Amino acid sequence: MFEHNVGAESNPVNLAEYARLARKRAEPSAWDFIAGGSDDERTLAANRAAFERWTLRPRILSGRDTVDVSVPLFGRTLASPLLVAPIGYQGLAHPAAEVATVQGAGAAHTAMVVSTMSNRTLEDLARAASAPLWFQLYCLKDPELTLSLVRRAESAGYEALVITVDMPRMGRRERDLRNGFALPAHLRPSNLLMEASPELHRSQQGTSGVALHVGQLFDAALSWSTVERLKQQTALPVLLKGVLTREDAQRAASVGIDGIIVSNHGGRQLDGAPASLDVLPEVVEGAGGRCRILLDGGIRRGTDVLKARALGADAVLIGRPIMWGLIARGAEGVTDVLRLLRAELEQALALCGQSRWTEIDRSLVALAPPCGGGWSAPEEGL
Ligand SMILES: Cc1cc2nc3c(=O)[nH]c(=O)nc-3n(C[C@H](O)[C@H](O)[C@H](O)COP(=O)(O)O)c2cc1C
Repeated sequence: MFEHNVGAESNPVNLAEYARLARKRAEPSAWDFIAGGSDDERTLAANRAAFERWTLRPRILSGRDTVDVSVPLFGRTLASPLLVAPIGYQGLAHPAAEVATVQGAGAAHTAMVVSTMSNRTLEDLARAASAPLWFQLYCLKDPELTLSLVRRAESAGYEALVITVDMPRMGRRERDLRNGFALPAHLRPSNLLMEASPELHRSQQGTSGVALHVGQLFDAALSWSTVERLKQQTALPVLLKGVLTREDAQRAASVGIDGIIVSNHGGRQLDGAPASLDVLPEVVEGAGGRCRILLDGGIRRGTDVLKARALGADAVLIGRPIMWGLIARGAEGVTDVLRLLRAELEQALALCGQSRWTEIDRSLVALAPPCGGGWSAPEEGL
């Protein structure tokens, strides 16, 4: 279908067309790093497939001609329920790296989560921002260094702390092992003020420089006590990213965590973990209304966003599609990807006879009959 689509070359009209354009432009091993998942990439595929199991239940004759997708979160009203997910090493996608993404997100009035592993400092990114920023924290072996990142994020005006909890060690990303993937010498984790370890830049088939670096740096014994301590050490709202079960949601709520991001890291960590959408209802139940619930993984259409809302998400994060926009067209591409997705969401809301994001409930979706048409990914990683 895409082969004959000349328009996709110059003017993508959806996220899949951005993927196609980006794939042509990206350096192959960087594309693999961005597109890939762990092991057999079953969880990566499951994230997409999960959305196909639900259909929308539109209501007719609503008499409403406006839609409002704004969402109140942690004391401020975000213009839309879309957030830019934390993605490390964006210098792989564009020379301006995260600066372009922050600018692109700002132009689309969309909040962004900045990764610990950004190629620009969190302070530089705060200066370039015109929409809210949250900081994503990887807990490092050195607790002082970890806390210093939190303090820097607070001082720079970040509005929430997202602690990623699904990566005590890195998933085996076989594409990277095959490619001997390593970070190019001109890119470094700029928030970590020490010299980057040589492993990060050493390309050797059968190893991943990024995985070796994670092994050296990250706290492999990350536990609830670390998270509870961090919660006490900051006044920022704290979210846990990577929760997939009712039990962990219950515990997060009971220790006062403010938000949960239902996520399997875009299928890059435990292969065999469930699709995020599939476990959203049980996480919502476990949290029992005590935490705000966000979701990421596999969102590629406005209707996906609506299904996530109907199943209990307050907001969603978008990962790889942001990189497609960044690769294809820099900051403008990021803005365009976010605008396309928001326009699709508003359209879907209107065609479902709804006017407010906050009023969407479970009655808007039903399980699809088995053997329905189904969305088929034209290429892997989309
Ligand atoms: C290239 C890449 C780098 C990522 N880096 C981070 C990171 O630094 N921190 C983090 O918490 N998650 C990271 N993630 C996971 C994303 O935040 C998000 O969970 C995932 O991409 C969502 O799935 P999607 O790509 O299908 O939208 C990364 C994902 C990708 C594709």
